[in-house]
Amino acid sequence: MNILLFGKSGQVGWELQRSLALLGHVIALDFDSGDHCGDFSNPDGIADTVRKLQPDVIVNAAAHTAVDKAESEPDFARLLNATTPGRIAREAKALGALLVHYSTDYVFDGSGDAPRSEEAATGPLSVYGATKLEGEQLIRQSGCQHLILRTSWVYAARGGNFAKTMLRLAQERERLTVIDDQWGAPTGADLLADVTAHAIRHLQTHPDDGGLYHCVAGGETNWFSYANYVIAQARQSQPAIQIKATDIAPVPTSAYPTPARRPLNSRLDCSRLQATFGLTLPHWQQGVARMLAEIL
Ligand SMILES: NC(=O)c1ccc[n+]([C@@H]2O[C@H](COP(=O)([O-])OP(=O)(O)OC[C@H]3O[C@@H](n4cnc5c(N)ncnc54)[C@H](OP(=O)(O)O)[C@@H]3O)[C@@H](O)[C@H]2O)c1
Repeated sequence: MNILLFGKSGQVGWELQRSLALLGHVIALDFDSGDHCGDFSNPDGIADTVRKLQPDVIVNAAAHTAVDKAESEPDFARLLNATTPGRIAREAKALGALLVHYSTDYVFDGSGDAPRSEEAATGPLSVYGATKLEGEQLIRQSGCQHLILRTSWVYAARGGNFAKTMLRLAQERERLTVIDDQWGAPTGADLLADVTAHAIRHLQTHPDDGGLYHCVAGGETNWFSYANYVIAQARQSQPAIQIKATDIAPVPTSAYPTPARRPLNSRLDCSRLQATFGLTLPHWQQGVARMLAEIL
């Protein structure tokens, strides 16, 4: 199987390089990949890459993920998150290739407190959410065989993440304030990559199972509880770490105004994914504990 991976250096892309290697020959590109165009601001160049390489599977982990910045550069965000993925989908359709793509809980308005299914009404609050939703729609409209995984709160051991920021701040300050009214599930890039590889293998023998799925780790939390978990784990596993923070206080989202609005309820119902692909999504604490063990 020939697999073309876009966005190889991002959180999910990095883990995909590992998990996809089991399935076949992987050509992994980022926006500056020499021989082949991997730059999503150049849809013609990306289409050219797909036509030249003729992969059986295309996995797109590239995106404009700077949620606040997207508010001031909506055209650029749309190009990366919608126009180019739509273009790739048309090339995939022409080739008969499977396209795997990632989307987000930010396609929803975050009202209520129930986990949302794939059929729930969308209502993005931000440019990022709206452009990601348009990307989904263009892929679905293209008629190509596809797998779209909507996920949330992605972290990885590599690069910066919320847990690392909390650990740093907890060593620098006595008091921390953390938002406690946004709910979701921190989801490891490694988990997403493993689910992707498993699903690609499944779709080879069950091509009709393609489509849109929700994919997040099990359980739920808010950023305040997540921060407390991270700091407690660090205290327990690395007593030598000097944690200064003695006062970690919950605050509402309104305490941290940002250019882009975030959904308060990011809970996603993943039962369809688990039933279709025969998977059990582990509790978020399992993945976060593992990531902390790697970085501490
Ligand atoms: N992160 C989250 O919490 C989250 C939540 C829900 C869904 N998702 C979705 O999951 C997918 C993977 O996200 P991630 O967390 O792995 O994001 P990420 O770490 O920001 O990775 C995105 C990748 O896209 C690359 N990129 C940026 N501009 C590009 C361009 N013009 N051409 C080609 N590549 C470009 C980035 O490169 P540079 O780093 O060099 O800019 C980066 O390697 C995305 O579709 C995202 O929307 C993420």
